[in-house]
Amino acid sequence: MTNVLRWRHRISLPDGTVTPGIQDSPALLKRLHLPEDLSGKTVLDIGCSDGFYSFECERRGASRVLAVDNYSSPLIDSPSGFQRAHTLLCSKVEFRQADLFSLNPDEDGCFDIVLFLGVLYHLRHPLLGIEHIASLCREKLILETRLDSPFGLWGALKRRLLGPDNRSPSMRFCEGAQVNSDPTTWWTPTAQCVKAMLRSCGFCSVKQVDKQGWRGIFHGDSPRCGSDVLDLVQSLGSQRVALAYKKETGRSLEEKEVVETLREVSIPQFAAIKQRAFELNG
Ligand SMILES: C[S@@+](CC[C@H](N)C(=O)[O-])C[C@H]1O[C@@H](n2cnc3c(N)ncnc32)[C@H](O)[C@@H]1O
Repeated sequence: MTNVLRWRHRISLPDGTVTPGIQDSPALLKRLHLPEDLSGKTVLDIGCSDGFYSFECERRGASRVLAVDNYSSPLIDSPSGFQRAHTLLCSKVEFRQADLFSLNPDEDGCFDIVLFLGVLYHLRHPLLGIEHIASLCREKLILETRLDSPFGLWGALKRRLLGPDNRSPSMRFCEGAQVNSDPTTWWTPTAQCVKAMLRSCGFCSVKQVDKQGWRGIFHGDSPRCGSDVLDLVQSLGSQRVALAYKKETGRSLEEKEVVETLREVSIPQFAAIKQRAFELNG
């Protein structure tokens, strides 16, 4: 492949060739439990690298895909792979070379599905990152990450101290290229830690859908997808929730609009409205 020094993804191109990525992207795709039909859905792919997952979402019918990467990892090539594949696939995926934290829900919108694959451990401030993603996610987050390694001396020690099924929600700080000789890998969390962080940022129905060696895949839903909105309105009453909404946003709501409106707010906003509603005197 001309102009691309190092491919990460294995992308099938229209001429029948496959880009020589170091990652078996089709195999990882199968483990993500990404919905087969994404018709009408909007997708944000954070840390898109060569774009395999963005292009796949487009192929599955997504109405809008925004692919974002700051290309900060020394193990990843510049955007050249993404750009080459984008051209050859005649893709309409939007692309931005940018940092996750530069995305703004007011300007960029919220996305039904957010892909956050192999990026969590590259963030110096992972909880802040998940919190920021919550403000951009309308329906579902699919997160893939390296986990605290069960192998090596550290793993052996932990198994001895905590038992084989380490349930502690902890995260190991990896100073100075300890993992994959990559100085941009800062953290390796346990699976329990990933789930706890997602819950603390307002995600619901958090579950680990796959694990392989020291990597895991997690799903988290926005409260609007489950019964949270209805539960809140039923338990506190639409008048009280409408009042909490007004106090939080400054906007008035008809009682009959409450459920529909709450299904559109971002995850942190829902959490804030819920808290206000509980704080109001009944
Ligand atoms: C290990 S690669 C994963 C690539 C792809 N998502 C996958 O699963 O194959 C991590 C990617 O995230 C990008 N990245 C790291 N921190 C980022 C940030 N703060 N904002 C945007 N992209 C970031 C890196 O440049 C790199 O391309």
